[in-house]
Parts: sequence; C-alpha cells; structure tokens
Amino acid sequence: MLYLDNAATSRFKPQAVVDAINFDLRHSANGGRSGHSDAIEANLKIEACREYLKSALNAKSADVIFTKSCTEALNLALFGLIKGGEKVVTTALDHNSVLRPLFHLKNKNLIFLRVVGLTREHKVDEKELLEAIDQADIIVLTAASNVLGESVNLKEVGEAARNAGAILIVDGAQGVPCANIDFDECNVSMLALAGHKGLHGVQGTGALVKRKDIKLSPLIFGGTGTSSSDVIQPASSPEDFEAGTQFAGGIAALHQGAMWSFSHVDETIKNYLNLTKSTVYNLKNMGLTVYSEQNPYGIVSFNLNDADSAIVAQLLDFAGIAVRSGLHCAPLVHEHLGTTMQGAVRISFGVENTKSDVLRFSSSLEKIIRKFSSRA
Ligand code: ALA
Repeated sequence: MLYLDNAATSRFKPQAVVDAINFDLRHSANGGRSGHSDAIEANLKIEACREYLKSALNAKSADVIFTKSCTEALNLALFGLIKGGEKVVTTALDHNSVLRPLFHLKNKNLIFLRVVGLTREHKVDEKELLEAIDQADIIVLTAASNVLGESVNLKEVGEAARNAGAILIVDGAQGVPCANIDFDECNVSMLALAGHKGLHGVQGTGALVKRKDIKLSPLIFGGTGTSSSDVIQPASSPEDFEAGTQFAGGIAALHQGAMWSFSHVDETIKNYLNLTKSTVYNLKNMGLTVYSEQNPYGIVSFNLNDADSAIVAQLLDFAGIAVRSGLHCAPLVHEHLGTTMQGAVRISFGVENTKSDVLRFSSSLEKIIRKFSSRA
C-alpha cells in the first residue's frame, strides 16, 4: 500500500514510540493514582511528556493537559472558557472540531460568531481577519488547513490578539510541528494538539497547552488522584482537568514521537515542500483542478473534472494507494471551493514518502484518467 493519508493519521511511527507502547503493555500501572514504584514510573513519564511539549513549543508559562484527541482539547478550551456573551472569530478554513462547538454555542445564543471568509486564492482574507480580531474577545483558528495546506500568519494574528486584548486559541492538529509554532512569541493562549498526526504518536492522545493564567471549567468530572476527600471537583491545572485513568502508554509514546518529530522538523518541511511542489505540477499538467499550492504540511487536494471524489479515491485504493476523499470534516472550505457535493481527493504525505511515490501516484492517476476518458 502506498499510504498517502497521513493528514488523517500518520503511518510512520518511530521505534521509540513502538517501544514505549510495548513497555506499557507489559508494565501497566496507574500513574498519578497508586504509590508503588511502577505507578510512580508511569507518572514520571506523563510528567516528562508535559515538560517536553512545553519546551518544544516554547510555552514557558503554560500547563499541558492531556486529552484523548485534539477535538477534546478544543472542546475543553471552548466550553471551559466561554461564559456567554463573548464575540468569537474563526475562519472558513477551520475544521468541524472548531466549527461544531462554536455553532452549538452560537445556536444557544451564548456567543456572537463571525466566520472570516477565504479569498479567490483560497487563503484566509487577512484584512477581514485583522478587522474581526480588533472587535473580538476570542479568536479560534487552525494553524494549517487539513484540506488545502494553507495557513495564517500566526505571529501577526497573535500580535493583533494582543492589541485587542483577546484570547487566541489555535487548533494545531495539522500544523504541529511543521508550522513551527512559538507559543509565547505568537501570544497563543491555548493550543490544541493531536498525538497521532505530525507528532507520530498513537490515536487516542492529544493535549491542550494552556497559559497558566487562563481559567477554565473542567469538561470531565471524576477522580483525579488529588483532593480525594472532596466531592467537589478540584480545579488545579493540569491534573484536575484529567479526571479518569490516563492513557499512560500513549502519553509516553507521544513524548517519544514528539521528540522524534521536533528534531526532524527541518528535513520534514523540506521534503513536504518538494513533494507538494512536484505533485501540484504533475496534477496541473494532467489538466486537473488543483486546490492546493506547494506547502510544508504535505497536503494536496484536487478533483478529476466533475468525477465524484469518492470514486477516484476508490480507484486509487484498487491501485494500492490510500487517500482521503469527501469533505475532510471541513465543510466551509468545500463550500468556498464549490465542492460540497463532489468533495475533493486529498493526498497527504508522510515523512517516509519520496519523489518515487509522487511518480507512482501520478502514473496510477494517469491510468484512472484514461479509464474515465475512454468511458466519456
Ligand atoms: N482531521 C483528519 C483529517 O483531516 C481526520 O483527515
């Protein structure tokens, strides 16, 4: 299988990630609960992962709260923060993990929501975004689009948020680590992470990196291993936002995956820039509609005339190539592209892909195009 669906879940896992999971399966213990040495060792690994993520993201005055996904981290950030009456800004590039909580809050008349649109070049309208931030209490946006590989200038957005006195929440599912986010310098208040994509950890892991002075209500109530005499949920961050047994093995694996990913980020970006450049060139040469440009996230979306993207993806699957079709949980991007019915075919490279994979993909696609034109 030529796996080109790394934006959904990265296929490559460093050996240290595999070893961390294996170790945990053989030495499972409940970190942060029991006091024996195996539980203490599990807890030390959880704490080591928190510290590593803070240093890798330059989030000096932040807490790292572990969650089971980036979506859960975004839900904690939004439902934990919003009290009612806030003016919130997001963009049409954003994923349903941002849009659905926000539209839920808007439909309950709890927030005033403004969605900044995209330009003809499929970029966030920067002028409109900066104007909107000026009026906002909270800005929530993605560091990188999972459909297009587009991103905003986070430094500029962070500066505008600082000037407006607004809270900036960043969805880092697709953008970490290749967006090179500097949490403190970009004035980020909260950053949501996925463990199983660019950080090369496993599914079921995520985190919310939260500035210490941002106060949240917990999303999940229960045992935390702290203040256990109290039936009222304690509120010290981070552990009191992590009720229930932690995925200790997954978090230990996330630490290993993140160390690998941040230490290989320059070569990863260079590889993705090369691969997306040649893919975009090849697809345009084939006369296809290409929605992405060269980008450091390894993402290219396209369509073959008006063919249903699911059919093209299925034909690629028959040829041994894994891609994702449809709407990629990002309905407003597709509304903008005019592809709500057709969807788009998305390929997303991983760190092990090379130019020869681009050639194999292109030649398989050429065969599919010939099949379509012989039927026409
Ligand atoms: N959000 C993931 C994707 O883009 C699942 O495929």
